[in-house]
Amino acid sequence: MIRVQNLTKLYGDRKAVDGISFHIEEGEIVGFLGPNGAGKTTTLRILTCYMPATSGAASIGGRDVFNNSMAVRRIVGYLPENAPLDGNMRAREYLSFRGKIRGLNRPDREAAIKRVTDQCWLGDFIDRPIHQLSKGMRQRVGLSDALLHDPKVLILDEPTVGLDPGQIRETRNLIHELAKRHTVLLSSHILPEVEATCERTIIIAGGKIVASGSPEELKKRIREGSRLILEVAGPPDEVKKTVSGEKGIQSVECVASDNGWHRLTIETQKNVDPREEVYKIVKQKNWSLRELRLEQGSLEEFFVRITAEQAAKQRSSKQEVRS
Ligand SMILES: Nc1ncnc2c1ncn2[C@@H]1O[C@H](COP(=O)(O)OP(=O)(O)O)[C@@H](O)[C@H]1O
Ligand SMILES: [Mg+2]
Repeated sequence: MIRVQNLTKLYGDRKAVDGISFHIEEGEIVGFLGPNGAGKTTTLRILTCYMPATSGAASIGGRDVFNNSMAVRRIVGYLPENAPLDGNMRAREYLSFRGKIRGLNRPDREAAIKRVTDQCWLGDFIDRPIHQLSKGMRQRVGLSDALLHDPKVLILDEPTVGLDPGQIRETRNLIHELAKRHTVLLSSHILPEVEATCERTIIIAGGKIVASGSPEELKKRIREGSRLILEVAGPPDEVKKTVSGEKGIQSVECVASDNGWHRLTIETQKNVDPREEVYKIVKQKNWSLRELRLEQGSLEEFFVRITAEQAAKQRSSKQEVRS
């Protein structure tokens, strides 16, 4: 449904999107996850024909976003990061105005407004001035606008940003409902957000795709090295030295000590599980044991690492510009 090939966008000499490629099948609900400045909005704006790419190709439903933008706009609904909504209009008037722009005649407009009012749970709010609506409600008016022409594809840029927890839950439920009838691509800089809503995640950082897959697939991929947590009562230096000598151990660190108990984190090499060996040492030395646990890389940790790496890259490129 959505095909992106080697897409690149330069702002001046700054590469906001750097040769990304991905496919989204019809009916999928996909999260576009990345820290601020990763290139999400830029990509979504190219896909929704709001600006051209510098190079590369993109199509939606087989229509090219550069050469056939009118056809793309007909099958895509877009909720921008900050949906521009006119505060003095009532939601119904606003949607009617938007329907007119889209070329819907009066009866079609009325039918469309009725449909989106149901789809987005607008209820009586449809007849309130927009400035009286909560941020969550305004977001639903924006979503209604994106749905007026009943598009096959919905592209949502950070749809829950700035909402309170109750509104976030409602919006997530609403997106789930919408995903039954539409292909959905939504962006977010918050991992749990994407985990809760999407079947598949594409992670972007520094304009490049760094990983993609279902949450399970991503977790499998990032399970490179693992970490062992060990809590023992034994002389800390000796514990550290003996454990460090085992095969496949990268580093051992004592992270806390309390009343003769020591908590150590043991980093292991890829695919190494030294729990049995560590247990044998503990037994042989006759130390008391409270905990011995293998911690596998979490998606959260992975995402935090990518985010930190990107922040470091941005800092160094700024320094390059200054010097
Ligand atoms: N209009 C613009 N002019 C110059 N640089 C821009 C513009 N829009 C975005 N950028 C830069 O491009 C990069 C990607 O931005 P953006 O696509 O908005 O990221 P995201 O939506 O993931 O936060 C950022 O470094 C941002 O500062
Ligand atoms: Mg953005």
